[in-house]
Amino acid sequence: MSTNVMEKDALQVMEERTSVRHYDSTAKMTKEEVEELLTITSKAPSAWNLQHWHFVVFHTDEAKKKLLPIAYNQNQIVESSVVIGILGDLKANENAETVYSPLVEHGYMTEEIKETLASQINGAYQNDQYARDAAFSNASLAAMQLMLAAKAKGYDTCAIGGFNSQQLVEQFDISNRYVPVMLITVGKAAKEAHKSSRIPVQEMSTWL
Ligand SMILES: Cc1cc2nc3c(=O)[nH]c(=O)nc-3n(C[C@H](O)[C@H](O)[C@H](O)COP(=O)(O)O)c2cc1C
Repeated sequence: MSTNVMEKDALQVMEERTSVRHYDSTAKMTKEEVEELLTITSKAPSAWNLQHWHFVVFHTDEAKKKLLPIAYNQNQIVESSVVIGILGDLKANENAETVYSPLVEHGYMTEEIKETLASQINGAYQNDQYARDAAFSNASLAAMQLMLAAKAKGYDTCAIGGFNSQQLVEQFDISNRYVPVMLITVGKAAKEAHKSSRIPVQEMSTWL
């Protein structure tokens, strides 16, 4: 496949992604399909490659029903095939060992560089505001990647920020290591998205 064809496909996916809020509730996604989607999602970039995300998969009807009131009864929660809760990791520095050790083992990184990086990372994580900002920014990149990958695979999505974060944490026993960033519904569209427009990019950019 030529590069041009691949570029066009990716651009088409970005052009065509919209926030779908009505899904065919009979359409199911298998665990394998969801895992494949999350695997592609996890290829998103992250600072120091710490992969500051955790995915809570609301796959059963029971889990989605429990989530519905927490997301202010937005019906797309129960109509969609799956809802992915994107959490940000407030202690992503603790992933450094897992991420870098295989690189050292395979000779792609020296032990010395690994230690230098670990000390820079732990230094940054002394600052709670940094840890929270990094959790949100990096997990949001994964969220975007998930929505585009789903679209490329023939599914539609909607990002949801309208949910009660505290209730989500309490009712699904989410560890205080993580902060809820957003929910994403994924499924087969039953109705087109509302039309949306964009502010001209000239008004949204500053050239220096
Ligand atoms: C962080 C975030 C939170 C959002 N929260 C909600 C939500 O709670 N409910 C909803 O129906 N749409 C929600 N949306 C979808 C936006 O309304 C939508 O992306 C925007 O109107 C642009 O439309 P489009 O995605 O179809 O281009 C959210 C989007 C983002 C990125």
